[in-house]
Parts: sequence; structure tokens; C-alpha cells
Amino acid sequence: MLKIPYAKVSCDGNELVYVKEVLESGWLTTAGKAQRFEELFAEKTGAQFACAVNSCTAALHLGLDALGVAPGDKVFVPAMTFTASAEVIRYMGADPICLDVEYGSSLLTPAILKEAIARHPEVKVLIVVHFGGQAAEMLNVRQEGILALCRQNGIRVLEDAAHAFPASLNGQMVGSIGDVTCFSFYANKTITTGEGGMLTTNDEEIYQRVKLMRLHGINRDVWDRFTSDKPSWEYDVVAPGYKYNMPDINAAIGLAQLERAYELRAARQQVAEYYLSALKSCSWVDLPKLHVAAEEHAWHLFPVILNEGSSVSRNVFIEEMARAGIGTSVHYKPIHRLKYYRDTYALRPGDYPNAERIWQGTVSLPIYPGLSSDDLAYVVESIRKIQARKSVNLLTN
Ligand SMILES: Cc1ncc(COP(=O)(O)O)c(C=O)c1O
Repeated sequence: MLKIPYAKVSCDGNELVYVKEVLESGWLTTAGKAQRFEELFAEKTGAQFACAVNSCTAALHLGLDALGVAPGDKVFVPAMTFTASAEVIRYMGADPICLDVEYGSSLLTPAILKEAIARHPEVKVLIVVHFGGQAAEMLNVRQEGILALCRQNGIRVLEDAAHAFPASLNGQMVGSIGDVTCFSFYANKTITTGEGGMLTTNDEEIYQRVKLMRLHGINRDVWDRFTSDKPSWEYDVVAPGYKYNMPDINAAIGLAQLERAYELRAARQQVAEYYLSALKSCSWVDLPKLHVAAEEHAWHLFPVILNEGSSVSRNVFIEEMARAGIGTSVHYKPIHRLKYYRDTYALRPGDYPNAERIWQGTVSLPIYPGLSSDDLAYVVESIRKIQARKSVNLLTN
């Protein structure tokens, strides 16, 4: 057992109360709780519509479908992301065009996108990832943000906000910015439903398509079919849809988590601020590059990059941290290094210099609400000890 695990969920609100209500209701799958979760989530993100689904991957898939991505199309996606952001492009029979990211933030930038558009004018959809909980530069005062660039070039935008709830950019909530936004409620995310996701949009047409495809392409809600007092069994299927609905048991957990979303976010911010301050003077580590105020960040991850000054490699560092009883993680092995994408698209590391540099040294430190100040002091002390011990070894070897 690790003394300080990498992630730990905090379920000490109304989770049990709401789950019990579902268990006692006689109806366990999608119904009133999921509907309520959608309403409240739309309210919190300022989006007009929200669709609860069983994962962010499902939301991304439905989003690309609703944006009309077809076989043979090309879709931009950052190289530094989880495989789900790229695999959904393949679900549609389309092909990913991987883009490099900024060193330090792992975010796609307007400058990188601008250059990519010039090289690939045929691309009509972008997936942008709000890495670690920090929103990419969608909007800026010069009207040269990612969204403006996309609008000028006829590109639709799907935001992968798996890490980014609650997060905002210049006061505007992530979820109400681009054409479609997808959130994850996987077990280690900022709020969780165990497994689950949400798609938000302000576009009614997209919403209707997503609702239809989320449940087999059936033209009416299953809940409606089973609970309506009129004897109406009949439904029709108007498209070959998927089975992506969120069950009420998961939505019940989500409702309780949503009530505490800002409290949980603030606790993560405190952890991040501790690390930022305690590691500021360490020249061998590059801290996350921040473009938004701490309050606008969801703080899902705290990735640091061990740089050329580090006395240990990233892998040795992770082993030493585990020996000290501390869990860490890596976000991510970039898309261009994953066998399937590398071989299928002949991707070369040299085309993604920043993602490569990040990958060589990146390691994510524990960040979650339950970490005490003693825990944090122990993490930082262990990091310093590993660096010091290894430097001595290097000098004496
Ligand atoms: C950037 C990103 N996108 C998508 C996903 C997929 O989320 P889910 O597990 O809810 O399908 C993840 C999961 O960690 C992620 O990190």
C-alpha cells in the first residue's frame, strides 16, 4: 500500500443518499437523476444543452458524429493527450493529424494551429484538449484565439475537457465556448461518477443528434417508454446509434459531486499552490506553465517536467518515489509514440519537438482534496532527497 497514492476520490457528500434513492426507486438506469444532472451541469457551465453519457470517450465519439465527420476526413488533435482523443477520430473512419503543443503547458496554441491550418487547409474539425484542467487559448482580445482561427477557416471545434470541470477562460466557463465540449467523470477526475461523461453544446441541432445517437438511434427516450402511464411500447430507429446513456446510479453520484465541485476544486488549487511555491527554487524541475488565473484552473493534474539539470531520469524518479511510498503518473506517452498511430501514420518524434521534450521528463504529482499539509511536505521532501542523493552518487561514481 502506498503511503500517498497518486489519486484518491473524495465521496463524502450526498453520494450515498442519492444512490440509495435510486436503488429504492425500482429503476436503475437512465431516468430522473440523469436528467437532473444534465440540467444542473448545463446551468453550471452556462451551456444551453447537456447530454449525460457513460464516458468522455462516448461524448467525444458522439460529438464527432454530430459535427458530421466522415470516413476519409482529417481531424486535428494534439499529440500530447490520452489515446481516447485520437481513437474517436478512427471510430469515424477519419484520420488524425497530430499537432505539437507548447512546452510547459502541454496546450495547443493559436500559433501552432495557424501553422497547421496553412499546411492542411482541408481539415474541417479540431479537437482541442484543455490539458490538466487549464483551458487552451480559445479566446483572446486580439480575436486571434483558437476559436477565431477556426471560425475564419471553417473549422468546427470539439473541446476535450476531460480534465477541465470546473474551469473557465476570461470568466467564460469551459463547456459554453466551442461547438461541442466533452467532460469526463472517470474515477480520478475532478468530479466523478465512477465512469461517465457529459457533452455540452449551444447548438440545438447537435444536441438533437447526440440525444438520438446516444441510445441506439431510437426516436424516443427509453425511460419514457417504460414509465409512461399510456400503453405506448412503440418506437422507431432512425439511425444506427450507440449505447452510451448514463445510468441513474452514476448520475446520483454525479449530483452529489456537483454540489461540491467548487469546494473540491479549491482544495486542488491549494495543493497546486503548495507545490508551485515549494518547488519554485528547484532548477532541475520545470513547473507547469500557467496562462489562466489559479481560480480558473480545474487543477486535475500537477505535471512537472524533470529537465536537463535533473540528476535522475524520469523513470528512476518514479521508482524512487514509489520506494518512498508516493504514487505518481505520466501524462502522457504522446500519440506519435503509441504503436498503432506511429505505424499507421508513420509519425516521427522529430515532428513534435515540444511534446517529445515534455514526454522525456514529465511526471505528475499527487493532487486531490484529501492531501494534508504533512502529506505535501513529505512529497516535496522526498523529491528533494531523491535529487540530492542521486547528485551525490553521480559525483562519487
Ligand atoms: C484528455 C482525455 N480525453 C478523454 C479521456 C477519456 O475519458 P473517459 O475515461 O471518461 O472515457 C480522458 C481520460 O482520462 C482524457 O484524459
